[in-house]
Amino acid sequence: MKAWHVTALGAPLTLTDLPLPEPGPGEVRLRVAAVALNFADLLMRDGKYQERPALPFVPGLEVAGTVEAIGPDTSAPPLGTRVAAFLGAGGLAEAVIAPASRLLPLPEAMPYDHAAAFPIAYGTSHLALDHKARLQPGETLLVLGAAGGVGLTAVEIGKRMGARVIASARGAEKLAVAQAAGADHLIDSDAPELKAALKALGGVDVVYDAVGGPAFDAALSACKPEGRLLAIGFASGQVPQVPANLLLVKNLSVMGLYWGGYLRFRPEVLTASLRTLLGWYATGGLCPHISHRLPFDRLPEALDLLQARKSSGKVVITLPEARR
Ligand SMILES: NC(=O)c1ccc[n+]([C@@H]2O[C@H](COP(=O)([O-])OP(=O)(O)OC[C@H]3O[C@@H](n4cnc5c(N)ncnc54)[C@H](OP(=O)(O)O)[C@@H]3O)[C@@H](O)[C@H]2O)c1
Repeated sequence: MKAWHVTALGAPLTLTDLPLPEPGPGEVRLRVAAVALNFADLLMRDGKYQERPALPFVPGLEVAGTVEAIGPDTSAPPLGTRVAAFLGAGGLAEAVIAPASRLLPLPEAMPYDHAAAFPIAYGTSHLALDHKARLQPGETLLVLGAAGGVGLTAVEIGKRMGARVIASARGAEKLAVAQAAGADHLIDSDAPELKAALKALGGVDVVYDAVGGPAFDAALSACKPEGRLLAIGFASGQVPQVPANLLLVKNLSVMGLYWGGYLRFRPEVLTASLRTLLGWYATGGLCPHISHRLPFDRLPEALDLLQARKSSGKVVITLPEARR
């Protein structure tokens, strides 16, 4: 099978031929139809992510496809079932091994590109806003990086949970994408005085921060009493430092949320969340935004789009299986 390989950290990926893998007990092999890219793929390629697979490795965290082979003594959906799966790595290949317990059978009307783009972005925002921050109807939610993969789903889910949503993103085009996802107020992240703009809107109850850097400090200062700040990611490359005295004086909470971590310590929370989200999708309540779909052989171009902040929502790689 063809697969994209990281052979040296920080180096461009190479397209390579690998033997077709055989599933072991508890595993299936998927024929991959679509792979969604994540900022984490860039970090993993560069050796800067919290998970560091041994070299060489095939990146790719989330896929959709069909069950092609089932390992011995394994209970799994029948061969040919359309599924999505979250993986530690390995998705950027024509076929991949996945634990049978992680497969998400797809609603009939869900296309492969939506399915691949679904688990991480929606899963992270739902766990963060619902399970962690307990966002309430009528509260004000600020999303930093609101047109990115996870950010845009936070806008959509926040709106669905009844919040008033303030979206911060760079440039008119990305702000329009956030508005279409339901944002009530738009702030260009390149404009100065984020804190003043937030105060003028009455302050915020919950902050969803996928960016880090100075925007986190401004958001912290604009929080209302009992505000909750979700540290989701540091796309800016700058990890915020939290002044604990301000947390005390304003009764604020800063919360970290690593979606993948739940697979290890409370997988049932993650599974229940994904079930809820797929239910919302099936009834037309969620609409994944994919700014770019590129074929498998154009992966380097797709990674460049993500790196250069030219995408909004998700970037998805499609394979011939998607057309079957
Ligand atoms: N905690 C978790 O479980 C979890 C799950 C998924 C992702 N994440 C993290 O969340 C962050 C976003 O991930 P994603 O997959 O949504 O990425 P993405 O689609 O590339 O979105 C990142 C957004 O960050 C903004 N940004 C600001 N400064 C940037 C910079 N210097 N370089 C690149 N982007 C910058 C960009 O928006 P503008 O151009 O509008 O500023 C971009 O839309 C990453 O740090 C990722 O590791 C965390």
